[in-house]
Order: sequence, then C-alpha cells, then structure tokens
Amino acid sequence: VADGGTLYDALPYPARAFDVTHPSRLAANARLFGVEAPPVATARVLELGCADGGNLLAMTASLPAAELIGVDLSEREVESGRGRLRALGATNLALEVRDVCAVGGELGAFDYAIVHGLFSWVPEPVQEAVLALLARSLTPNGVAYVSYNLLPGWHLRAPIRDLLRRADRPELAAAERVARARALLSRLEKAELHPHLAAEVARMQERDDPALFHDEMNAENAPLSFEAFLARAAAHGLDFVSEGHLGDLGLFDPLAVELAGEGEDAASEREREALSDLLRLRPFRATLLCRRGARRRGVPGAAELAPLYLLARFGRARGAVGPSARYVGERGATIETADPLAIATLDALAGAFPRPLAGAELVAQVRGALAAPPAADELEARVAAVVLRCAVARLVELHAHVPPVAFEPGERPRASAWAREQIRAGGVVTNLWHRSVSIDSAHGRALLPLLDGTRGRDALAHALGISEETVEAELALCAFSGVLLRD
Ligand SMILES: C[S@@+](CC[C@H](N)C(=O)[O-])C[C@H]1O[C@@H](n2cnc3c(N)ncnc32)[C@H](O)[C@@H]1O
Repeated sequence: VADGGTLYDALPYPARAFDVTHPSRLAANARLFGVEAPPVATARVLELGCADGGNLLAMTASLPAAELIGVDLSEREVESGRGRLRALGATNLALEVRDVCAVGGELGAFDYAIVHGLFSWVPEPVQEAVLALLARSLTPNGVAYVSYNLLPGWHLRAPIRDLLRRADRPELAAAERVARARALLSRLEKAELHPHLAAEVARMQERDDPALFHDEMNAENAPLSFEAFLARAAAHGLDFVSEGHLGDLGLFDPLAVELAGEGEDAASEREREALSDLLRLRPFRATLLCRRGARRRGVPGAAELAPLYLLARFGRARGAVGPSARYVGERGATIETADPLAIATLDALAGAFPRPLAGAELVAQVRGALAAPPAADELEARVAAVVLRCAVARLVELHAHVPPVAFEPGERPRASAWAREQIRAGGVVTNLWHRSVSIDSAHGRALLPLLDGTRGRDALAHALGISEETVEAELALCAFSGVLLRD
C-alpha cells in the first residue's frame, strides 16, 4: 500500500472529470432500477483514490450545495489538488491524505461514492477495505460506483502488458521506466504482430505517461469477472444495481438476452451479464452498487423515465431517404428510423438541446407532434423504449439533476471558477454536465477567463479588442457548450 503511494508521489496521476461518475448520472441509472437514490443537489459525495481531485473539483461548480470529500494516499497529489481548491475558493470540497484502509466512521455517511481507477490496482486486502467502507458508509439508498478490469475481456490486454513488465526495471526512476516502455512500444509498432496485439500496442501508445505507468505497467493488476466482483460485493451486503454506461448491461444486449433468457431472478441476471461480457469481450466495467434489497429487477419503463432529465448527444443528419431519418452522435453512433413516433421523439430531444427535456415533457411533445398518437399508456411505453435504446447507444444522457447552467448568456455572463482555471491552464474545460468540452477558437479561449460575472458585452469587447458581435457569437457558443452558470 505504502508503495502505491510512493509511486504516485513519484509520477502523479492528474485526475480528470469522468462524466458517468457524476451523482446526477449515478442517481439516474440507479433510479431506473427502482433505487430511490438520494437527492443529488444536497448529497454527500465521497471519492476514494481521487488523486489530485480533478473529478471532484469540477463538481464544485455543478453541485454547489453538495458536500464533496476526496481521499487519496498520495500526499503530492492531494497537495496539488488543495492548491487548486484554494485558488477556486470553493468551500464544498475537502481533499484528504488517507489510506482507504484507515478510513473509519469519522467521515460520516455518504449518498454517493466513487471508486474509479483504484480497485484493480490495489491488493486484495485494500479491495476488501474499499468494499467494507462502502457497505459501512452508504446511506440506505446510496449508490456506489466501482470500476475494475474485467475478465474474460481483459485477457486480451495481458500479452502486451506482460511484454512491458518483462522489460521493466522497477529499480529505475519512474520517468526512465516510462521511456523504456515507450521505446519497446515503438519497436513493436514496427513489427509484424497479430492484429489484436498491434491494436493493443496502438491503444497503449495513445495513453499519457501517468496512465501508461500506473494503469498498464503497475505490478498490481488483478482483473476479475463480473460474477466474482458481485460475490465479493455481496459478502459485504452490497448488490449490483446498474452500470455507469447502460450499454455495458447484459440486460440491454439483445444477443445475451436471447441466449440467457429474460428471467428476472438473480441467477438469470448473472448469467445474462456473464454471457454479455463474453460475447463483447468487455475489458472494463463501472458497476453501480447499492444496499441489498434497495433495487428491483426487469427492464425499466415509462414510470422510471418520466422523472429523469434527458439530454440529447446527437444531431439529425441529412441524407436519409424516403420517410426515414438518421441521427448521429459522438464516435459515429447512429440511429436510423422510419417510425414516426421515434422520429418525433428524437426530433424533440435534438430540438431542445442544449436544454434537457424531462421524461414527461418529452411524451407531451411527441403526442403533440403525431397526427394520430396512440393511447397514453402505449405512447409512454414506446417513447421510453426509444429513449432507453438511445441511452444504451450513448446518444442520450440520463440525469437526475439539472445543474445551475445558463442556456442563454445573461447580461454579465459567468463561467465557473473551475472552467476559468482550466482554460487558463490551457486544457479542455469541464462543462456543468460534467463533460469535457474543448473551446477551440482563440477568441473563445481569451473570453472565457473574463467571464466572472462582472463584465457586460461592451467591457468584454473592449478588454479583448473585438466587436460586440464577435463577443455575442462566442458567448452563444459558450452557452451551447454548457459552461455558463445561471444567475
Ligand atoms: C490510477 S489513479 C486513479 C486516479 C483517479 N481516480 C482517476 O481515475 O483519474 C489511483 C489513485 O489511487 C490512489 N491510491 C492507491 N492506493 C490507495 C490507498 N490504499 N488509499 C488511498 N488511495 C490510494 C493513488 O495514490 C492514485 O492517486
């Protein structure tokens, strides 16, 4: 354990915001399965292995009334995070140097707990301490997110990792070890390898130095199957409720459902999930846990979706023929449909962006758009099915909470202190939906740090030496990107 801390002190691992760890997303994915997850705005949130707190620092803006606590073993990382926290002036986050094994009841109870990039890289006694801590400190309907390397898919990652580990010289300094690994990867890139290995080499080369060193070369790396993870969690009274990405659920994998059946008992569920992991060779899961007895099984329907907020992550594409319409999201995800009800649903969501639509509001809009809408129950069920399919394909985000985001720039526009700090540091910006967005134009990058709520259009134009029209256009882009705070 101490060794892990030392290595992270030697080569820190700057944490960034992971959208699916945000309590708004955790609550939505858990409520789909009947868990009455606690109110998000005022939640107590714990992150274990938070490194420099990058994930929580971003949440200070979207959850100003929540209480956020981050714990990490590395003094250097926590100190760096505290420095940034002081610069922000946020009072709703505390970052603490602690071994997760040494956390007792003193931190209190938590509504949401996040364990990302930790579980698979620590020895079993630390993993057990993490599960025990979650079981001890989650509130009755609290939700925990735990990500881990997954078998059998992770087996495919093992050969290149083994090559790196064999060539590694642990007695050398971290930077030198990374340089040696990079040299080996470059050599392998030029070699004739099995296509699978070549793809794995390319994946590793894309990772930054801290990720290559800590995630890929770490001596400690114990992947486990979903069933094994579940059994470990169950021994602490914790139950599986959902996944960070709904697309990772066997329940939404048609082939796994076909092969394992639709049974709603625990054994059928385990079998379906296991088959899906096999069929998709999934190497990683981000599983949501709750207390035993807090959830229910089965496919979510209209009742579960009605209270959630739905945010489109796609646009309507041109070029579809006849009555069908095509919608394209990130990473090439596409849906093409000729079903008027699906088209009305997707058009309503895309038309509302950057605003989310509440589930019930969406149904009302679809009803209004159809010449002959079906009866209420059927309409709600079919709209819910379309939304769920889109959420699984990452075309729609499900939220339980709307952050204090401005959909249009106000008189004296304001971006969060964290976004202003991020842009000053030259990086991508986390928006209020906890997503990384890049502000590409030079004017936009110069403008954002000035948006502290003290300047109107004329002052902004004057400060940057640009026209008020240009300021207006850039502000509109900022609002569209979700980085402006509501007054
Ligand atoms: C790979 S980093 C992940 C950081 C961050 N959660 C992310 O995913 O970007 C793992 C972090 O876990 C911390 N860690 C390792 N063992 C720990 C322990 N026993 N107690 C607390 N933190 C620990 C390390 O210091 C490091 O910052």
